[in-house]
Amino acid sequence: MAQQIEKVGVLGAGLMGHGIAQVAAQAGYQVVVREVDEAALKRGIGRIEKQLARAVEKGKSTQEEADAVRGRIQGTIDYRDLADCDLVIEAITESLQAKLEMWKELNEIIKPEAVFATNTSSLAVIDQAAVSGRPSRFVGLHYFNPAQVMKLVEVVRCVTTSDEAFATAMEFARSEGKLAIPTKDKAGFIVNRLLVPYLLDAVRAYEEGVGSVGEIDEAMKAGAGHPMGPLTLADFVGLDTLGSICDVMFDEFRERRFARPPTLRKMLSAGWFGRKSGMGFYDYSGETPTENPGI
Ligand SMILES: NC(=O)c1ccc[n+]([C@@H]2O[C@H](COP(=O)([O-])OP(=O)(O)OC[C@H]3O[C@@H](n4cnc5c(N)ncnc54)[C@H](O)[C@@H]3O)[C@@H](O)[C@H]2O)c1
Repeated sequence: MAQQIEKVGVLGAGLMGHGIAQVAAQAGYQVVVREVDEAALKRGIGRIEKQLARAVEKGKSTQEEADAVRGRIQGTIDYRDLADCDLVIEAITESLQAKLEMWKELNEIIKPEAVFATNTSSLAVIDQAAVSGRPSRFVGLHYFNPAQVMKLVEVVRCVTTSDEAFATAMEFARSEGKLAIPTKDKAGFIVNRLLVPYLLDAVRAYEEGVGSVGEIDEAMKAGAGHPMGPLTLADFVGLDTLGSICDVMFDEFRERRFARPPTLRKMLSAGWFGRKSGMGFYDYSGETPTENPGI
């Protein structure tokens, strides 16, 4: 039996957190989103406001609907404002240490019957569940970027997750209009387990001279029907994020297919993180992306 959810806490208002907060508010939930300081909070809430305004401009929602969604979102930098949340979803930086410290603090504050969820892409859910003070009420809710658009949420059951907490998470994701797919607590879950080796293989194909960056991308679009080529996608995900996800998967499985190719390692040393840093497999400084001549 799923628990009743009315109020949702979201930790982090970065790339994922702001989207997760917006999607929950759009589904009618009261949302409290917490950031580390006022500047980060303002940036995150600003992103939500921009998205809502764009939806009104495009005629996808009315001003009244957008105002109502915004009205359901409260921003804070104080953990105590999340005390009466029924579900808390973390989307903070991908650092186990940071997540563990956060859960320890939150467990003291948040009502004991609330369910805790992590949006981690690569860390084992059990490692967080074990220190959360409520291992049976702990799940993974793995959204995809951008959370407002992507249909899938992987709902991760770890060894300690109770049937009730799992049902609550599945029901919650469905109530947001998402496709909820259950997965086991294995590094990468379903999508990254398959996607990460594919992206790394595209880098290796480039290293081996199979094709240029643009040729590899165009080939996969035209030949496999993908909406985006793998190297464009790697830039979009963030090469730093891809690097840390594949490191965790390599550590877990010890298989070459999860290992960082040298080109990726060198690009990260150069500070080329993909689209977000303006330079990755493509150079984003001009009107349209052009292949990065430096790799
Ligand atoms: N980027 C992706 O495509 C993607 C997709 C799915 C899941 N994820 C996962 O989502 C999580 C967040 O990733 P992101 O890309 O949004 O990162 P991000 O760096 O854009 O955002 C993280 C935010 O968390 C904030 N933060 C750090 N500690 C905090 C705390 N204790 N309380 C509240 N806020 C805190 C930071 O200030 C930052 O704004 C990670 O676990 C990542 O693995 C990322």
